[in-house]
Amino acid sequence: MNAIDPVLAKIDANRHAALDRLFELLRIPSISTDPAFAADCRKAAEWLVSELKSLGFEASLRATPGHPMVVAHRRKPGAKRVLFYGHYDVQPVDPLSLWATPPFEPHLKNGANGQQIMGRGAADDKGQVMTFIEAARGFIETHGDLPLDVTIFLEGEEESGSPSLDAFLQAAKDELKADLVLVCDTGMWDAETPAITGSLRGLVGEEVIITCADRDLHSGGFGGLAQNPIRALAKVLAKLHDDDGKVTLPGFYDGVDEISADLRASWEKLPFDVAEFLGDVGLKTPAGEKGRSVLEMLWARPTCEMNGITGGYTGDGFKTVLPAKATAKISFRLVGRQDPQKIRDSFRTFVRDHLPADCAVEFLDHGASPGIVLPSGGAAFQNARAALSSEWGSEAFIIGGGGSIPVVGAFKKVLGMDSLLIGFGLDDDRIHSPNEKYELASFQRGARSWARVMAALAS
Ligand code: BES
Ligand code: ZN
Repeated sequence: MNAIDPVLAKIDANRHAALDRLFELLRIPSISTDPAFAADCRKAAEWLVSELKSLGFEASLRATPGHPMVVAHRRKPGAKRVLFYGHYDVQPVDPLSLWATPPFEPHLKNGANGQQIMGRGAADDKGQVMTFIEAARGFIETHGDLPLDVTIFLEGEEESGSPSLDAFLQAAKDELKADLVLVCDTGMWDAETPAITGSLRGLVGEEVIITCADRDLHSGGFGGLAQNPIRALAKVLAKLHDDDGKVTLPGFYDGVDEISADLRASWEKLPFDVAEFLGDVGLKTPAGEKGRSVLEMLWARPTCEMNGITGGYTGDGFKTVLPAKATAKISFRLVGRQDPQKIRDSFRTFVRDHLPADCAVEFLDHGASPGIVLPSGGAAFQNARAALSSEWGSEAFIIGGGGSIPVVGAFKKVLGMDSLLIGFGLDDDRIHSPNEKYELASFQRGARSWARVMAALAS
């Protein structure tokens, strides 16, 4: 059994170089959804491969129809096998004008909880990925070895619906098989309190395109007479929720269970301040389902949200036009046994049934994954929780996750593996938004946490 203290000391001693390494990765604009950045996605993957090779991993880039995967092994026959998952791709940066400094020029800034690493991908997910790699470095540079048989698997399409993932997992089944998956793409409870995420919501992505006349029309010449696709779209979107905030799609709540009394009680005990949570983003009033607590809305209830809407003239000034076309991007967060395909079908039928004459409609599928609940009873979970708690000096909470990480469901379905979701993000990291940040403490103590967790899993 290798001692952990010298590993932690090594991680501390490496901290400046570790930050330089993270900055290098953050400078690569690996935006997966935008084809213009495909070469940068590849560059980020190559950077990680060379980093992992230098640590003695057998690392390589794996081509897919989309962006490449990174797979790296450091085998240890007889030891417990873990698969670490993270993603090297990032969200688009727009609106660029709202960034205080350029998104791909990482730097440190002073914040309320100490220094912050600023830049797109700092928290989601490059900073988190590097916590694990730096923990591995700490072990290797101290003991020449890791305590576990480790495979690192990094995806480059997580932020764009993981189109290549299922086929890749199928093909690499034997190579990726491990006793447990470790995922670093979630958050802490707050800046002092670490957390393990016990559930994730699923996601269905839909785009709806409504067209009416075969061209844009003058709204004086045709207004009031010709069908307007924005009007039709707005009307159908407005019908998706009732006055109590419930989603009106037929069958939408099939498979959604009430949370158990135990879980409800444990969530009620969490020191959650609604006013502070909403106040942080300039809001005051929860807009979800009536009669539900905010944590329940976030972690245990499904949603329907409009993520984008276009149509007509949106430039500066004004134009009296009846547009030919209007579009909307809609996402559904799923929980429990909600079936993504049924939700998609129900949505499409609902839209078709509610459109007036002269509207043609088309739909685009932007991916689907079901909600997932992870086991929390086993020894690995308890040992990891204890390790996290000792690093942070306070008991790690078990929280729900409002976001989605589709691969977690795929690991279970395709490879039969459970995942342990440990991450060091904070609610105010502004992931997917301008001025994304990651606390320097999250990065440094995150690396120390993974070292402790690896040691705890090995014992
Ligand atoms: N790290 C997030 C997921 C997350 C966010 C988990 C907050 C728990 C709390 C991840 O990178 C992400 O953003 N996922 C997308 C998935 C989608 C594009 C398929 C999401 O949740 O929107
Ligand atoms: Zn994300």
